[in-house]
Amino acid sequence: MPNTPVLSDPLSLTRGPTWSNRITLAPLTNWQSHPDGTLGDDEYRWLTMRAQGGFSMTMTCAAHVQASGQGFPGQLGAWSDAHLPGLTRLAQGIHAGGGVSSLQIQHSGRRADQALTGQRAVAPWDDAETGARALTTAEVEQLVQDFIAAARRAEQAGFHGVELHGAHGYLLAQFLDGENNRRSDRYGGSFENRYRILFELIAGIRAATGPNFQLGLRLSPERFGITMPESTALAQLVLADGRLDYLDMSLWDCFKEPLDPAYAGKPLIAHFSALDRGATRLGVAGKIMDTATANRCLDSGVDFVMIGRGAMLHHDFARRALADPAFCCIERPVSRAHLQAEGLGPAFLQYVSSTWPRFVADE
Ligand SMILES: Cc1cc2nc3c(=O)[nH]c(=O)nc-3n(C[C@H](O)[C@H](O)[C@H](O)COP(=O)(O)O)c2cc1C
Repeated sequence: MPNTPVLSDPLSLTRGPTWSNRITLAPLTNWQSHPDGTLGDDEYRWLTMRAQGGFSMTMTCAAHVQASGQGFPGQLGAWSDAHLPGLTRLAQGIHAGGGVSSLQIQHSGRRADQALTGQRAVAPWDDAETGARALTTAEVEQLVQDFIAAARRAEQAGFHGVELHGAHGYLLAQFLDGENNRRSDRYGGSFENRYRILFELIAGIRAATGPNFQLGLRLSPERFGITMPESTALAQLVLADGRLDYLDMSLWDCFKEPLDPAYAGKPLIAHFSALDRGATRLGVAGKIMDTATANRCLDSGVDFVMIGRGAMLHHDFARRALADPAFCCIERPVSRAHLQAEGLGPAFLQYVSSTWPRFVADE
């Protein structure tokens, strides 16, 4: 049994640069780019401050790979070469801060904002709730090509890698949905058919990018038609496959027990760290707000932690946690002035105060 790593240990991956420590920035939608998906200055500032704040790997927000996939105002885009100059500037800025960079690539599917896209949303199935229509098989094949094109664009822009957003009920997770994805083509119905698109993306991105390009995948267990048995089985498959450099499990609360009583008795994190992962690295996100909890995650057997809300509160969460075993985030709610000083621009503040309860103080 190898020694448990500590937060300051570097992390080597199968491909690409070593991460200088075990604390990384989770992908965070922030509404700070332009309506056409080109990079905004506030998005640049927000992310480069995090790279300067000691995060070994700085991941962008979810960036949509087709115009129809936009789920948020001011969402960073990766669907056109017109996005390349901004993506290049962003990658360079992250690297100048000392971090490894990753672009999270995404499509919102049935959760796309039709008012923003001006198009009817698409999904794996005809969705009565949102009015989204089912993708044809040819459109799924085009979607795969557009995810691959976005990954190539990221590489061209200088990013060290991409992460596929397969979590939180967006389009890739909609394919995984065992309750709703009853497609009769090869992308729906059986478990194998529902996860097929992920393996096509992994193979396609590997074939289209260089040997040092880092490829990660984000999954989330529970909700959105994803059960614990399928979630752990899929995690096991992608971990054993070897073509991913890392799997990022978005758990929302690492030490919560699964809802499924058959999985009770052990926290979520333990169900995934127990899987056989070979050289594929495993990270987790979910309520890691202090050094002690980050350490507890490594002690529970994962390779790295991803910090979301803690990194909004402190641009230098990573540096502080590495320096101070007693470090703990400031109590919420926090003032707008605090968040502004930590590099959140007006659009991000508006998003956070309208969507995330008890985060920003009413003033
Ligand atoms: C404001 C906000 C925006 C988020 N945007 C994304 C996103 O673009 N992509 C994604 O995979 N997860 C997103 N998440 C989830 C976070 O990456 C993270 O997994 C989650 O917040 C749990 O970690 P935390 O407890 O450290 O915040 C978002 C979370 C928040 C609070």
